[in-house]
Amino acid sequence: MVETAKEPALIFLFGATGDLARRKLYPALYELFEQGHEFAVIGLARKQHTHESYRSMVDRALKPDAVQRKAFLDRFYYQPLDILQPEHFAFLKNISDQINAHYHLKGNRLFYLSLAPRFFGLAAKNLKKAGLTETDGWKRLVIEKPFGHDLKSAEELNNELLSVFQEEEIYRIDHYLGKDMVQNIEALRFANPIFESVWNHRSIANVQITLSETLGVGDRASYYDQTGALLDMVQNHIMQLLTLTAMEPPGRFEPDDIRAEKVKVLRSIRPLSSDAVTNQIVRAQYVKGVMPDGTPASGYLDEENVAPDSETETFIAARLFIDNYRWTGVPFYIRTGKRMAAKSTEVVIQFKDIPNNPYLNEFKNIGPNLLVIHIQPDEGLSLKLNVKQFGDHGDTLPIAMNFISNSPKHQIKKHDAYERLLSDCLRGDSTNFTRWDEVAYSWSLTDSIAATWKDIPLNTYEAGTMGPSASDRLLALDGFRWWPLTRME
Ligand code: BG6
Repeated sequence: MVETAKEPALIFLFGATGDLARRKLYPALYELFEQGHEFAVIGLARKQHTHESYRSMVDRALKPDAVQRKAFLDRFYYQPLDILQPEHFAFLKNISDQINAHYHLKGNRLFYLSLAPRFFGLAAKNLKKAGLTETDGWKRLVIEKPFGHDLKSAEELNNELLSVFQEEEIYRIDHYLGKDMVQNIEALRFANPIFESVWNHRSIANVQITLSETLGVGDRASYYDQTGALLDMVQNHIMQLLTLTAMEPPGRFEPDDIRAEKVKVLRSIRPLSSDAVTNQIVRAQYVKGVMPDGTPASGYLDEENVAPDSETETFIAARLFIDNYRWTGVPFYIRTGKRMAAKSTEVVIQFKDIPNNPYLNEFKNIGPNLLVIHIQPDEGLSLKLNVKQFGDHGDTLPIAMNFISNSPKHQIKKHDAYERLLSDCLRGDSTNFTRWDEVAYSWSLTDSIAATWKDIPLNTYEAGTMGPSASDRLLALDGFRWWPLTRME
C-alpha cells in the first residue's frame, strides 16, 4: 500500500528447522529472491546442522522448478542455538557481522521468531544482551500468533518486547492479512463509490463472517485443547475481517491511519455483559460424524492428545454489535469451527429489503441482495440480485454477478500470504500487521467472552455439518439465517 523500496537485510530465522519454516517461509523467501530482494539468512534452531546439511533441508522445501536455487541456497547459513543459553547468542554476533559485510546488507536485521510464544520475550532479551540489536541499519522483529493468551499475558509480553524493540519495529503476523481477498476488502469499499454509499445501517441488514474448516485438530491437539476456537481464530483472524469490513475510510493510506480506523471499530464493539453473552455466543464441540465426501470422522474427545473430559470449544458463533453511527443496530454474525462441512472463508453483506415492497408478496423466488466476498478457497466477489424470469413466466429469478480471480480464465500469478507479508517486512510496510492497541482491544473482547464461558452451555455438532442448531437460532432471533456457503462457477 505504501510505496517503500526493497532493502537488503540479514534475516535471523529462529525455528529454522520447524514446520512453518519448511512449509511457508523457505518457499516464500525463494519467490522474493526471484523478485530481486537482497538478503542472507542465518537459520537458528537447537538441532545440529552444518551449513551444507541446512541448505539441503531448505532445498527440499523449494518447488522443483526453482531455477535460481543454487544462488539462493548459497545465502543460507546455520548456527545451532538454544534460546535458553545466552552464550549461544554471543556466537551469533561474529557470524552475523561477517555475513553482513560479505553481502553488503547495510546492517539491516530482521529477526523472525518462528518459535513457541513462551520464548519470544527471552529471545528478544538475549538478542539485546549479545549486542545484536545494536546496528547501523534498521532492526525489525517478526512474531507469529498467539500474542499472549489473554490481555494480561499479552501486556506482559508486549512490555518485554518493548524493552528491546520500538512498537514500529514489531511486526505481529496475522496471516489472514496477507490473503489477497482480505487485502481487497479495502479496495472494494473505498475504490467503488457504489458500495461506499450503501455501506451503513440504512442499507445493510446484517453482516455474516464465516471461517469454516473441514480439518480436525490433527497433530496440534495439545496446543488446540488449551486454546479453542475463540482464541485460535476469533481473537485474531475474525477480528481482522470484522474491522476491515466495518472501518471508516482512513484519511490517508498510511499504515497508522488504517490501523487507527481499525482500532476505532474494536473500541466500538458493544461490550458483552454476562447476560448478553448467553444470548450472543454459541460454543460447541464436534462429535463423530461423516464428512461430505463420505469419510467418517471421529469426535473431538476421541482425538489423540485431547483430554477425555475436555470442554474446549471447536466451534463458536457470535452476534456482535458495533455501537457507532454507521453500524447502529446492524448485527455482525461471526462463526468458525473445525470439522465443518466445508473449508471456506466468506464475508456476506445482506442488504435491507425495500420497505413496503409489493414484489416480496408477489414472487416466490425473490431473495435479498447479497454481496459475498469470497476469501478462500474461491477468491472473488458475487453480487446476488433478482431479475424477472425471461419469457412468459412472471416470477423473479435470483442471479449472481461473479468476479473470480482464481478461475482458469484468469491466469494471475498467485502469491502466498507469507510471501506478501515477508516482502512487506523487508520493505518496512507495517499496514498488514497488527499494532499493539489492536491486539489489546481484541483481547479485551475475547476476555469478556471467556470470563463467562461457564454460563454458556457447550453444545455439540456432528462432524461434517455447519455447526449446532443453536448457531442458527442466534440469527433467527433477529429474523435472519446464515446464507449457505457457495462455490463460484
Ligand atoms: C491458524 C489456526 O491461525 O489458522 C489454525 O491456528 C487454522 O487452527 C488456520 O487451521 C487456518 O488458516 P487458513 O489460512 O488455512 O484458513
